[in-house]
Amino acid sequence: MGILHETFFDVAPDPTLACALEGVAQLRAFEPDTIIAIGGGSAMDAGKIMWVLYEHPDADFFDMAMRYIDIRKRVYTFPKMGEKAYFIAIPTSSGTGSEVTPFAVITDEKTGTKYPLADYQLMPNMAIVDTDMMMSAPRGLTSASGIDALTHALEAYASVMATDYTDGLALRAMKLIFKYLPGAYDNGQTDVKAREEMATASTMAGMAFANAFLGVCHSMAHKLGAYHHLPHGIANALLITMVMRYNADPTPRKMGTFSQYQYPHTLERYCECAHSLGIVGKNDEDTLNKFIDAIEALKERVGIKKTIADYGVDEKHFLETLDNMVEDAFDDQCTGANPRYPLMSELKEMYLKAYYGK
Ligand SMILES: NC(=O)c1ccc[n+]([C@@H]2O[C@H](COP(=O)([O-])OP(=O)(O)OC[C@H]3O[C@@H](n4cnc5c(N)ncnc54)[C@H](O)[C@@H]3O)[C@@H](O)[C@H]2O)c1
Ligand SMILES: [Fe+2]
Repeated sequence: MGILHETFFDVAPDPTLACALEGVAQLRAFEPDTIIAIGGGSAMDAGKIMWVLYEHPDADFFDMAMRYIDIRKRVYTFPKMGEKAYFIAIPTSSGTGSEVTPFAVITDEKTGTKYPLADYQLMPNMAIVDTDMMMSAPRGLTSASGIDALTHALEAYASVMATDYTDGLALRAMKLIFKYLPGAYDNGQTDVKAREEMATASTMAGMAFANAFLGVCHSMAHKLGAYHHLPHGIANALLITMVMRYNADPTPRKMGTFSQYQYPHTLERYCECAHSLGIVGKNDEDTLNKFIDAIEALKERVGIKKTIADYGVDEKHFLETLDNMVEDAFDDQCTGANPRYPLMSELKEMYLKAYYGK
């Protein structure tokens, strides 16, 4: 069609600032009016950062990475995007939902600092969700990113920012993931239907958490992944059911800021999720137990191990880094939307349980 184009393909998982700077040098030389980011969450996030650096070479990451419970109410004005280039995201995993979210994470490899940028300016102008792009995803990626999407739906549903709009998206995403993740895992190269439904589920869960945000499972998974190099979806898988038990405690405590309810109701919220999946117990506690059993069974079905130790994370190194992980997790952008406001000691206890499995 005579459209001039260039390709940058050198993005490693958990992208670095060095990678984004390399990409942006190419962007500045070529001066495109459209950027197409094709790949998993890592490639799409790296693409978003290159887009920011291309449009605003002087933007300060420290300012842009400032944390707000609700990024719609920030005092720092994020630079306006889209004046030089239109941004299209095409996911190849199902997934992160990055194609429809206002988030991108980049790591400064020199200092180890992670910049989790969050602003609606970072929303891609267009998302193309095409099953053909996901057929080649290996099993490990299929299961890890599938459980990541499930965690997005669960955390968005339990979030203090959840609304009727995000609830519908989250519930439907959960239903599709329970039904289709095993097929996508078993026969990913041929089961087009399972891939298609997982792609839909991932993008719907992305739309839910783009608006309702996440919770402490993601806060803790971000740090576990960063300190111990576990894939993002695996880190979430190792923590999610523990966080659900923690959040479901009905005893009144300090709740997240600006919660849209008057008393702890997360147990009931998880029961609504369970009921929509056809899981019903004798009472709410029993329903939660059955729901957690079903999530554990799904994880096992798609080859996910039980504990952090099972993934070969050295015990000594884990314990040495634990206090820093706890502090960083408490400080993560996702903590503010969690339905139960955590104490650092509680985060630590959950990390230890996830490590040893008890
Ligand atoms: N921006 C957001 O809203 C958001 C949300 C969740 C996670 N994330 C980030 O996304 C990253 C994880 O993304 P991911 O789970 O998609 O994995 P990924 O992008 O890190 O990819 C993992 C590996 O799979 C390969 N791969 C991707 N698609 C493939 C395909 N179709 N066929 C064969 N190989 C393929 C990649 O090349 C890479 O080697 C993390 O850095 C996480 O922090 C971002
Ligand atoms: Fe995630």
